[in-house]
Amino acid sequence: MKILGIESSCDETAAAVVEDGRKVLSNIIATSLEEHKLYGGVVPEIASRRHAECISSVVREALEEAECTLDDIEAIAVTYAPGLIGSLLVGVNFAKGLALAGNKPLVPVHHLRGHIASNYLSSPLEPPFLCLVVSGGHSHIVSVKSYTECEVIGKTCDDAAGEALDKAGRTMKLPYPGGVSIDKIAPEGDENAFAFPHPKVSTSIYDYSFSGLKTKVINYVHNAQQKGENISVPDLAASFQKAVVDCLLINFEKAAEDFGFEKLVIAGGVSANSRLRAEAEKMCKKHSWSLTIPEMKYCGDNAAMIAAQGFFEYKSGVIADESLNAYATMPIDKLKI
Ligand code: KG4
Ligand code: ZN
Repeated sequence: MKILGIESSCDETAAAVVEDGRKVLSNIIATSLEEHKLYGGVVPEIASRRHAECISSVVREALEEAECTLDDIEAIAVTYAPGLIGSLLVGVNFAKGLALAGNKPLVPVHHLRGHIASNYLSSPLEPPFLCLVVSGGHSHIVSVKSYTECEVIGKTCDDAAGEALDKAGRTMKLPYPGGVSIDKIAPEGDENAFAFPHPKVSTSIYDYSFSGLKTKVINYVHNAQQKGENISVPDLAASFQKAVVDCLLINFEKAAEDFGFEKLVIAGGVSANSRLRAEAEKMCKKHSWSLTIPEMKYCGDNAAMIAAQGFFEYKSGVIADESLNAYATMPIDKLKI
C-alpha cells in the first residue's frame, strides 16, 4: 500500500511516497533554510511563502521519482500539528485539494509521531519501545505502546534541546542552526573547559529544563566581553553540547530503568547529533539494551516519516474529513482531529 506524505510544519517543504510504512520510494525536500540564516532563525512568513511556491513541484517530483501517479496512491498523509501555523496550513490545504481531486482518504499525522516513525524506515523496529524525541521545538520521553498509541513520560518545562542549542549557537555567533554548528565545532574544543549545572526540575523526575544552561552560555559570553577577554568558542560549544547530551541521557536512562524498557529509540532533528548518538550507544551497550536511531537523512524534517506514520494511522482508522484544520500545538498522546 503506497502512501503519499506531505510535510510543511517548519521550513522544509517535503513530499514522499512510502510503501507499507517502511519502503521509501521517493523522498523530496525543498528547504528555505538559506534565507532564514540571514535572520538567525526561521522567519514564519518567509517559510509559508516558500511552501506555497514550491509545494506543487515537490509533490509532483515525489510522485515522478516513485514512478507512480495519484491513481497508485492509497491515501494522502499530511502533517497537521504541531508547527508554524502558516506553514502547516499550506501543506494541509494542498493535501485536502489533492484528496478531493483524487477521491483519496486524507490522513492527519502528528509531526512528532512522524519523527518516531522515521525509525521504521531504517530498521525492522516494532513497538513497544521507549523513545527520546528531541527536535527544535520538543524534548519528550515517550512510551510508544503501539504504532498509534503512546504516553508522555517526561518533557521539557521550558526550551527544547534543539532550541537551546540554536540559541546558544547564536550567542556564540555561530551560523544558524546552532545545533548543527555546535556539533561541527565541538570536536575542536575541550568539553571540560566550562562548568554547567545539571538542572533539577520539581515537576517530574523525567522532565527537562534547558533554559538555565542557555542562560549560563549567555553569562559566560557577556562576562568575557565585559572583561575584554576572548572566549574559546570550541571549548564553550563542546562543554555546552556535553551538558545538553548528559541531561538528555540521564533522564532517558532513568525512565528506561524505572519502566523496564530494553528497546530504546531516538528521534527528531537533534538525533543527528554525533555526541548524542555516540553516548546513547555507550549507555545502551552498558545495559545490553537495543538502540535504534534514524539514518542521518531521516533525522531532520522529511515527508517519508509522515507517510510511514500515515500508513499506521490509516490502518488504525484515522481519517480526516474535508474540514481538517492545522494546529500550532497538540499533545502527541491526545490527538484532536
Ligand atoms: O526535527 P527538526 O528538523 O525540526 C523540528 O521539528 O523542530 O529539528 C531541528 C533541530 C534544530 O534545533 C537543529 O539545531 C537541531 O535539530 N539539529 C541538531 C543537529 N542537526 C539538527 N542539533 C544538534 N546536532 C546536530 N547534528
Ligand atoms: Zn521536526
